[in-house]
Amino acid sequence: MRAIDEHTITEAALDQMASTPDPRLKEIMAALTRHLHNFAREVDLTPDEWLEGIKFLTAVGQKCTAYRQEFILLSDTLGLSSLVNALHDRRATEAGTKSSLVGPFYRQDSPVLKLGDTIVTKPTNGLEVCLYGRVFNSAGHGVPNATVQVWQPDETGNYDLQKHDPSEMDLRGTFRTDAEGRFYLRTIAPLGYMIPMDGPVGDMIRAQQRHGYRPAHIHFIIGAPGYREVVTALYLQGDEHIDSDTVFGVTASLVTGVNSKDPSSPIPNLPTIKFDFHLPAAAAYGSGRVGADPSQIVAKVAS
Ligand code: BEZ
Ligand code: FE
Repeated sequence: MRAIDEHTITEAALDQMASTPDPRLKEIMAALTRHLHNFAREVDLTPDEWLEGIKFLTAVGQKCTAYRQEFILLSDTLGLSSLVNALHDRRATEAGTKSSLVGPFYRQDSPVLKLGDTIVTKPTNGLEVCLYGRVFNSAGHGVPNATVQVWQPDETGNYDLQKHDPSEMDLRGTFRTDAEGRFYLRTIAPLGYMIPMDGPVGDMIRAQQRHGYRPAHIHFIIGAPGYREVVTALYLQGDEHIDSDTVFGVTASLVTGVNSKDPSSPIPNLPTIKFDFHLPAAAAYGSGRVGADPSQIVAKVAS
């Protein structure tokens, strides 16, 4: 009979899990168990602290709905989502645009629009801009007919989901690139915003005296047959939180600006936000989306 103590417990737990037939599940659960045990030993975790942790995770789960994913927000604010993105980017066989967070406001099935259309559907005081760029492959050729999904907050830093009936979509759309891989549309310059702070993750952020803001950004999911989907965002330089994003989504190569005099604008007489994307060739590993439309996650759990 093995004596279970603070040191032998880890081997005992790993031994019992050794029967796991799926090798990847076995590897992940063994590493998770080892790290959790080492964490508890490192901080000399007390029963009261453990219970606080259980209460916190329970509250995170209870905050989740079809329109809110508090667990992903927790992952984002701990830097785990960005770490998983960086590992995903490292696995690419060709260099491409760096990944960034999907965030909680992505919706599948945004309106399909034509190049040059606007994604603004509600009255706005925002600065109208032309958002444009090209989608390239690694050989430097434009990718025709690529799907460009775009979504963003408004000039006050709010997404449609935070303002309207969730069935009313605003400031989001799906476009197809032209024969040269170009896309262009009308929108407004977004403002940065605070992540949702009315849940347990907000309590954590306040307890850590963090500001809770994300810099102004526009999200994209771009894909085409034969290419690895790019899930990313562009970030606007000059935002006061560009170097301290609460969810660690910003990286230098994703930063661009608003240009008030752009002779290359495909929609003349509008300020522009320009950003080009680079799609690596498809590879035989899974999705590059850290995040999801929350309603899809809940539907899967419920079924
Ligand atoms: C967002 O960009 O929409 C976002 C990402 C992570 C956490 C909260 C918001
Ligand atoms: Fe966002």
